[in-house]
Amino acid sequence: MNNLQKVPSVALIIGSSGQLGSELASALLKERPDQTLICSDLHQGTAPDGALFEALDVLNKPRLEDMIKRYGIQEIYHLAAMLSAKGEQKPEMAWRLNMEGLLNVLDLSVKHGVGRVFWPSSIAAFGPGTPRDLVPQWPVMDPRTVYGISKLSGELWCQYYFQRFGLDVRSLRYPGIISWRTPPGGGTTDYAVEIFHEALRTGAYTSFLQAHTRLPMMFIDDAVRATLELMRADGERLSVRTSYNITAMSFTPSELAEAIQSRLPDFQIDYCADFRQAIADTWPAVIDDQVARLDWGWHHRYDLNALVDEMLTNLAAASVNP
Ligand code: SER
Repeated sequence: MNNLQKVPSVALIIGSSGQLGSELASALLKERPDQTLICSDLHQGTAPDGALFEALDVLNKPRLEDMIKRYGIQEIYHLAAMLSAKGEQKPEMAWRLNMEGLLNVLDLSVKHGVGRVFWPSSIAAFGPGTPRDLVPQWPVMDPRTVYGISKLSGELWCQYYFQRFGLDVRSLRYPGIISWRTPPGGGTTDYAVEIFHEALRTGAYTSFLQAHTRLPMMFIDDAVRATLELMRADGERLSVRTSYNITAMSFTPSELAEAIQSRLPDFQIDYCADFRQAIADTWPAVIDDQVARLDWGWHHRYDLNALVDEMLTNLAAASVNP
């Protein structure tokens, strides 16, 4: 089977206006230009050329069912969620969106024979009982945020649907994702995106995490490629049906600032930790993703220096040619 034959011809992205969804849509079209790709998000939005857009609230199960039937959806990327920091401000809504949304997708996928589902988990599924360094694939997981609890529960639901109903659902525990086209919304790792915008705009940034808070991170191109590689991997090789550990690098706000200063020497950083510090303090610093590397050949391409170069170059170009 060549690569094109592995790519289904009708796919749906739920949460396509978000940080990951917007870039995944372009990558999916590049992978298979003749596919029918439906992008959807809560509010009316845009899709890249060659894709369709439909507004969809994933909590509206009848509407989701209508779309799956109407288009004959073969593959779903369910990315709509409320992230860690925002979720702590609206815990009930976060639980409902993150859990009920996933269960709607899983249930309708079984009912209508959707061939494959992708759903992201996160480093937020770990907690203070998890080792901080080199977190193995199967550690203690005791998340302390609503977002993290929903991710851990969701992982177990994914495994349950795979084992009980044979639904081919696949998942990655993303670290903080850093991108320049679309901002993240409401996460604890968002500082690592904001810092680049402010470095170029004002030359200074106040970090809401302390200088030495080390967290796992990944450049968006690696995150998108990991998603597609996992989705195209031979199912027989996948030993994990909860969610795969995956990482590219780990750094602190002060190390990121130094890397920026080596390119923009006048850049200034200071620190004023807020409630997000307490969230970050429960997350691990370094992830061990060797199971993903062994099972389906994961390898990252962007380290800290490559990430900083990409972010500064692309954001500077985007401000000249918005
Ligand atoms: N980036 C996410 C957050 O900070 C972690 O998955 O909430």
